[in-house]
This record gives sequence, C-alpha cells and structure tokens, in this order.
Amino acid sequence: MKQKLRSHDWFGKSDKMGFVHRSWLRNQGYPDDYFTGRPVIGICNTWSELTPCNGHLRDFAEIVKRGVIEAGGFPLEFPVTSLGETIMRPTTMLFRNLASMDTEESIRANPLDGVVLLTGCDKTTPSTLMGACSVDLPTIVVPGGPMLNGRFKGQCIGSGSFNWMVKEKQLVENYTAEDIHEAEVGSARSQGHCMSMGTASTMACMVEALGLTLPGAAAIPAVDARKKVMAQMSGRRIVEMVKEDLKLSKILTRKAFENSIIVNAGVGGSTNLIIHLLAIAGRMGVELNLEDFDTIGSKIPLLANLKPSGEYLMEDFYYAGGLPVVIKELKKYLHNEVITVNGKSIGDNNSNPVCYNTEVIATIDKPLQEHAGIAVLKGNLCEDGAIIKPSAATKELMKHRGPAIVFETMEDYHARIDDPNLDITENSVIVLKGVGPVGYPGMPEVGNVDLPEKLIRKGVKDIIRISDGRMSGTAYGTVILHVSPESSVGGTLAIVQDGDMIELDVEKRRLHLDISDDELKKRKAAWTAPAPMATRGYVKFYIDHVQQAHLGADLDILQGGSGSEVTRDLH
Ligand code: FES
Repeated sequence: MKQKLRSHDWFGKSDKMGFVHRSWLRNQGYPDDYFTGRPVIGICNTWSELTPCNGHLRDFAEIVKRGVIEAGGFPLEFPVTSLGETIMRPTTMLFRNLASMDTEESIRANPLDGVVLLTGCDKTTPSTLMGACSVDLPTIVVPGGPMLNGRFKGQCIGSGSFNWMVKEKQLVENYTAEDIHEAEVGSARSQGHCMSMGTASTMACMVEALGLTLPGAAAIPAVDARKKVMAQMSGRRIVEMVKEDLKLSKILTRKAFENSIIVNAGVGGSTNLIIHLLAIAGRMGVELNLEDFDTIGSKIPLLANLKPSGEYLMEDFYYAGGLPVVIKELKKYLHNEVITVNGKSIGDNNSNPVCYNTEVIATIDKPLQEHAGIAVLKGNLCEDGAIIKPSAATKELMKHRGPAIVFETMEDYHARIDDPNLDITENSVIVLKGVGPVGYPGMPEVGNVDLPEKLIRKGVKDIIRISDGRMSGTAYGTVILHVSPESSVGGTLAIVQDGDMIELDVEKRRLHLDISDDELKKRKAAWTAPAPMATRGYVKFYIDHVQQAHLGADLDILQGGSGSEVTRDLH
C-alpha cells in the first residue's frame, strides 16, 4: 500500500486549497510529478554571512538537494534564525530558544515529510534540533564540519583557543601587535566551524553519537570533498527515512542520550553539551537530569587528544579515524544496539574503523586519562548543582579552600580586575555574579574570566573561578560553571561577600560556602532581586520563562512537543 505523506494534505487535493498550495510554488519551475507523491524534504538552513562558521552552508543545501532528488524526493530549502557565536550580543545563548521556536514552527507549518538540519556554529545545532524534536518528523543532521587547522608561526593553533591566551601572550611573552595580527589571520583560515573540541565540534559529535548523522560525519573538515559526499548521501537517506517513518522519537531514546554523554567524555567535549542535551531531552520527553552526566560520564576514559585540553585539532582527529574510532573503543560502555538514521545500530555502524594515529586517538587500554567527563558539584553554594570539567582544570586546585573575591557583575569585573590594589592572590576564588540565564540575560560564556594582570606577570596560570555563567568549549581552567539557582534569582551565590571562605572538593563533588546557617539565612532575607534586564519584547519573554541551568535553560513553555499535525488550513 502506498504511504500517505503528510505533504499530501497540501499538494494532493483537487480543491481550491490544493490549487493554491501548488500553484504559487510552481513559479519556481517545478514539474507536475513533484506534487504527486514525492516525499517533500525541508532543508533547514542556518546559513548566514553573520554566522561565519556556517558561511558555506548555502552551497551545501544545493548538494543535499541533489541527493534528495536522486532518491525521488522534492527538496525545499528554508532559512531559520542563525546564531553567530563571535558576533551576536549579548550572547547567542539568549537566542537559542528563539531559533528553536523558529525551526519548530517553520517545520510544522509547512508541507514537509522529512527534514535535513544544516548546522555548524555552536548554537545552530542544538537550536534547530530542539525545534525539530518538538515536531518529531524523520530528521537527519548534516554538520557543516570544522575549519582546517589554524596556523601561526609554523605551529597549529585552534580557532577559539588562542584568543584565551592573548592577554598572557602580550603581558608575559611580549607579543607585538603584528604577532597578534598574524595569529588573527591564521586562526580561522577556511570555511567551517571552530576546529578545537569546542562547542561546535562537541555538538557535531553529540549528534553523531545520538545517531542523527550518517556514520563518521562529525569530524570531516568543511572543505574536504568527503563532506560534500556526506551531504549528498544524507539527502538520499532522508527520503528513505520518510518511507520508513524513522522519526526522531524512534532514535532519541534514553539510551541514545546516555551514549552521547559517554562519547562526549571520551572526546573531552565541552561543558555546553550538558545544557543543550538537557534541553533536547526535555523536548523529546526523555528523562535526563544533571546528575546523569556525572553518573554516566565521569568514569569514562579520555581518548581524544584534542585542544583545549589536549594537543591536536579536528583535522588531525579526522585523519586519525574520527569519531567512529572513539565509538568503537568505547563499545563496552555504550548501548551498541540503538538505532541510527541509516537504519543500522550504532554498534554496527562503527564496528571496524581503523585508527591511523594513536597519539590523536588513544586506545581504551592506554587512555589519556582514566576518568574524563564532567563532575557535578553540590553544596550550599549550588543547591541545584554546578559543574566542572576536570580534564580542563588544574589538578592541584581540585581540592582547595580560599577567600572569595566577588564581582557583582561583568562590568564590575572589567572595572576592577586589573586594579593593582585588588586583594587577590593565587589562593583566591573569583566569584562572578549576574551571568546566569535571567541575570545577564542569556548565560554567556564568561565563566573563564582572565586572571588579573598582576597574577599573570607572576606566572600564575590558573585560579578557581565560580559563576552562574557558561564557558566556551574552547576554554580551560579550574572553572566552576552553571551554578544553580543563579544569583539573580536569589541563589546562594548572590550573598557571597569578599573574604568568605569557599571550599571545593571535586572528588567529593562538594562546593561549600563556609558561613554559618544563621548568617546564610540572614543574608538571604536581606537580599533584593536586581531590576529585570528588559521590560519588553523577546528578552522580557525570555526572562519570564527561562528555566535554570540544571534544567537546560529552555523556556518552560517549550518543554515537550506539539507533534506535526496542523488541523486548520489557510482559509
Ligand atoms: Fe562558530 Fe566557534 S565561533 S564554532
């Protein structure tokens, strides 16, 4: 029996509305047979010149279309809000949920049977996937791929990693303006997204580990011809997925999410995985909580030797065999039977890849670190949790007691951090408030604030920093992030004062503000909430509805999905 396609409700009718739906589309020159039973594939494109990492996706859409047509489908490309990490103010994270709404409603409102998500830069993967999950059509992701390795003074440098060293290089190594310019033009030297294991690469690995890409897709550089082949094959495959009714809900089970957490630990992925994976699970109705990232991920060995915690970059990772090698090595930890977009299990897809460089991808018997992943901290300073990435932190600081140096806002930090009279030493703990989802608003990647000039000149490389914000996936240091509840809604972080002693014990998963319970209560009673950062528009809507970090910072009204059915026609 011939399958009834969702698009048939638009194009299959012989009445007035069928006429309307077909007639206007015909102005783009589609022949009759495009409207008679071909699966209609929406190509959801995050291309934008303001999102440099996705600048090549306009061409990629044409390649995907080739594949869709070859398989007998009808491709229709549509744009959605694109989020350029290095350009948007105050932070792309403020707009992740907005872009997800755009994607969700664009898919649901249109005559689509299946969807290809063209993604790249950090937020463009989670935002589009969150939206697609709330509709639940057959969906495949085409990650745009990393840039070629950055080059500077004969060395490889990671885009997004070098910039964290600029202050230190200028102060300690006397880098000139010419040096910095040379690094600037050599860092991002090809199409693609950041090529360290930052958030974009983490997101690409996340979707591959979830089973939402063709095998091996994540690491292929954007400019490698094989990326184009992958895009074309994805176009072919989505048509088959529609015929098989292989929807997101059949792939994104709890086990798939667990696999993604495990693989993220193995590659040393970004802490941003947590906030995005929690939000995606929330859209799918899959139960996942902050503690799962520690329970499932923190005992997994680190295999990928990639910046920011390691030495190599994504191009090297691809040449060494890419994510399939990591998945094969981790197979004793993974749910190998879970199904992926090509209809095969993740175990079958990755049963036999060859590792060409064990310097870049270590074996399970000789890992780079026995335990990687992310540690979830609890204590009176973070009642609903906080996180730290041990592989990016300084070992000696993992157990520490030190006095707080408090900055009430990001502006306060900028104004005072390099004040020679600031009472800060290598034992201090920087506490940065007001950078959570509600407070900034949008929870920017500022948690790894630079150390003060006077400590850098002394040769200090790291001190503990605590905030309710996030950290770029390309950053490093002993940085405690995602403190929940955040300071702007009255979490304990709000009442920390200069000189309060703070205790961190990563092994015991403890983060403690050492003041008496009475004093804590007294300070909380005296606390007043800061004025909201917006009184109108999307930002006001966001502030009113955003959930805290331990819940994925999605809007409360966007949890779950509304499916793909739309019962009412235009008129
Ligand atoms: Fe786009 Fe890093 S800025 S991936």
